[in-house]
Amino acid sequence: MVPLHSLITAIVQLSLVHTCLGKIYTRFSNLPTTKFDFVIVGSGAAGNVLANRLTENPRISVLVLEAGGSNEGVLDSEVPFFCPSLSPNTPFDWNFTTTPQIGLNNHTIAFPRGFMLGGSTSINFLAYTRGSMDDWNRFAAITGDKGWSWHRLQRYFRRNERFTRPADHHNTTGEFNPQVHSRRGINSVSLGGFPRPIDQMALQAMQALPDEFPFNVDMNSGKHLGIGWTQGTIKGGRRSSSATSYLGPKFIRRRNLHVLLHARVTRLLQDGMTRGKKSFRKVEFAQNAPGSGVDGPFGPRRTVLASKSVILSAGSVMSPNILMHSGIGDERMLSRVGIQTLHDLPSVGQNLTDHSLTRLAWNVNSTDTYETHLRNATIAAADLAEWKRSETGYLTTTRLSFLGWLRLPPNASIFNRFEDPAAGPNTAHIELLIGNGMNLPPPTGNFLTVSTGVVSPASRGSIKINSNNPFDPPLIDPGLLASEFDLFTMREAIRSVPRFLSAPAWVGYVLSPAGALAEVDFSSDEQLNTYIHNNTGTLFHPVGTNSMSRKGSSSGVVDPDLKVKGIEGLYIVDASVMPRIPAAHTQAPTYVIAERAADLIKEAWDCY
Ligand SMILES: Cc1cc2nc3c(=O)[nH]c(=O)nc-3n(C[C@H](O)[C@H](O)[C@H](O)COP(=O)(O)OP(=O)(O)OC[C@H]3O[C@@H](n4cnc5c(N)ncnc54)[C@H](O)[C@@H]3O)c2cc1C
Ligand SMILES: *[C@@H]1O[C@H](CO)[C@@H](O)[C@H](O)[C@H]1NC(C)=O
Ligand SMILES: *[C@@H]1O[C@H](CO)[C@@H](O)[C@H](O)[C@H]1NC(C)=O
Ligand SMILES: *[C@@H]1O[C@H](CO)[C@@H](O)[C@H](O)[C@H]1NC(C)=O
Ligand SMILES: *[C@@H]1O[C@H](CO)[C@@H](O)[C@H](O)[C@H]1NC(C)=O
Ligand SMILES: *[C@@H]1O[C@H](CO)[C@@H](O)[C@H](O)[C@H]1NC(C)=O
Ligand SMILES: *[C@@H]1O[C@H](CO)[C@@H](O)[C@H](O)[C@H]1NC(C)=O
Ligand SMILES: *[C@@H]1O[C@H](CO)[C@@H](O)[C@H](O)[C@H]1NC(C)=O
Ligand SMILES: *[C@@H]1O[C@H](CO)[C@@H](O)[C@H](O)[C@H]1NC(C)=O
Repeated sequence: MVPLHSLITAIVQLSLVHTCLGKIYTRFSNLPTTKFDFVIVGSGAAGNVLANRLTENPRISVLVLEAGGSNEGVLDSEVPFFCPSLSPNTPFDWNFTTTPQIGLNNHTIAFPRGFMLGGSTSINFLAYTRGSMDDWNRFAAITGDKGWSWHRLQRYFRRNERFTRPADHHNTTGEFNPQVHSRRGINSVSLGGFPRPIDQMALQAMQALPDEFPFNVDMNSGKHLGIGWTQGTIKGGRRSSSATSYLGPKFIRRRNLHVLLHARVTRLLQDGMTRGKKSFRKVEFAQNAPGSGVDGPFGPRRTVLASKSVILSAGSVMSPNILMHSGIGDERMLSRVGIQTLHDLPSVGQNLTDHSLTRLAWNVNSTDTYETHLRNATIAAADLAEWKRSETGYLTTTRLSFLGWLRLPPNASIFNRFEDPAAGPNTAHIELLIGNGMNLPPPTGNFLTVSTGVVSPASRGSIKINSNNPFDPPLIDPGLLASEFDLFTMREAIRSVPRFLSAPAWVGYVLSPAGALAEVDFSSDEQLNTYIHNNTGTLFHPVGTNSMSRKGSSSGVVDPDLKVKGIEGLYIVDASVMPRIPAAHTQAPTYVIAERAADLIKEAWDCY
């Protein structure tokens, strides 16, 4: 017999869930119907933009299916400074691992992806970067659709962005260019809300070395080269994710918007033929809501139907995975694992492209670094108490004070053998990520982090499957540093850091390279390669696995209007449709693609 008090507690909790979460369900049986105008698979950056924009019209019904759980009350997701705690291998991560990376001495590495409402925007490191003008103009050139150009997308950047004052309300004049920002969008963006002691030293270093390390007042103007203040998806002192913004309280209460959590989509099913083409408007999923009494990890399969279209927004790893399990992909690969091909589309899962990140740190002559705030329990408790009281203080800022976007010198020897993979002459090859300590520090020491990224890589990888069980993880090969161009770029990126740290501003502060870096002779390619092999991972920006291409092109997965080539009833809208990787952290690009996609879909279905 269940004791009365726990029954009462359960009822109170249930009703709380309803008032806090609006139309967010955890059980299939609570859905009002199984037919919606649009069914969106995945509630990440893209999925929630579409859920919001398509339900602006009260006659249009939308269901979002999300495999993960709620973001409500997840402190690590709310507090910007805690972002490194959300992955890898946590309840908020898909826990993927790569295949052995030939560019990393065959090491496998963790490949985090958000597993909760908001997707990766609920677990990411918050940096807000749009990429360069060249990046977007190349998208337009590849797809033959000028609508994807930098200029034409500006209205969508503005619909996405709500530029807000940082938590500490400091005078931000000179830290950004107000003309390139919008205060009217949905997703909040702000500068850091608490100064770090390295900030002034870094600015002075840029002033001292303007040829190689120029200050750029705003990397989001389309001209991103140089080093500038990090802008983050932060509102006041709290993370702004696609869940807190696009599904915020005033939107989620719309009667036509429904979200089902713990709903893991297994396959898209063919529901018939439309205009002589197969249509895929039926979605199959498994429910495993905690406490639903389902035996085993996954409940019985359910289906829902989209009367207009399904929109696949499960991200660069899972969107191609779901397609392949649905019989949409490369016929040879599918037949090898016993899946009947319903639509042969060889580009599905191809061209996975990602940025590599090598972790680099220097010992510093100070205790005022992240390490102290992470290790000293008294200080950590005071930081958290302040955040809980007023969402102000140390924890309101990302781990990155500055981001730098730099090019290889034009006479770099690698250009004798490789065509420049960057989108154009004003687009970076290298990123510097500058922070006042390490993300996951060792037990002792205080550090300055200047990590390096390869942001216009030549390497390509893939997403493949090796079983016909949709619950098996796909084979993820981001091909990190697989191309000699990328390894060369990483070495040159690392060599640039001591030049930056040679500025007078750092004298007496930066002491020596930390850890294994101390043993590395920076002039030796071989020694740098070993360090790189041991200390490189993903910068978390996989794209390209369902690439857009010109209408009529036989390569690529979606047309420039984001409809899947050759079939009906299916759009893909997420980071997977990017035809090349932009030299940017990919959340702003994904948001913007989804904002335009919402307009394209409204127009196609006449449902403004
Ligand atoms: C650790 C980390 C740090 C990052 N840091 C930054 C950063 O600082 N700045 C930046 O710009 N970008 C960053 N990114 C990248 C950025 O968050 C992503 O590019 C962006 O969120 C991609 O959006 P998306 O809509 O394609 O996919 P996601 O946001 O990943 O959303 C996909 C959603 O689909 C759901 N889903 C997947 N499969 C299924 C299924 N079978 N059934 C139901 N639902 C499913 C997932 O659970 C998820 O909610 C980071 C990413 C990670 C993981
Ligand atoms: C990832 O691992 C964590 C910790 O083991 C676990 O709680 C979580 O459920 C896993 N995620 C998935 C999608 O299985
Ligand atoms: C990495 O693995 C590949 C494929 O198994 C193999 O050919 C190669 O020799 C390995 N490289 C190293 C450095 O071990
Ligand atoms: C902010 O700083 C700028 C220059 O640094 C100055 O011109 C301006 O008056 C300041 N604004 C306020 C409100 O103090
Ligand atoms: C932690 O910080 C407090 C407050 O600054 C200080 O008094 C204390 O000595 C520190 N503890 C350690 C172990 O360093
Ligand atoms: C490139 O040019 C710079 C100066 O213009 C020179 O110092 C450097 O040695 C050159 N590098 C190569 C690889 O030729
Ligand atoms: C460390 O900084 C102090 C002043 O803050 C200075 O006196 C000292 O010389 C520095 N140490 C080194 C090794 O540079
Ligand atoms: C790389 O890792 C190996 C073993 O994991 C270790 O022996 C070696 O010292 C490391 N070298 C560098 C430069 O990090
Ligand atoms: C895959 O990447 C290569 C190299 O960038 C490119 O030539 C090709 O067009 C891409 N394929 C698709 C479908 O985008």
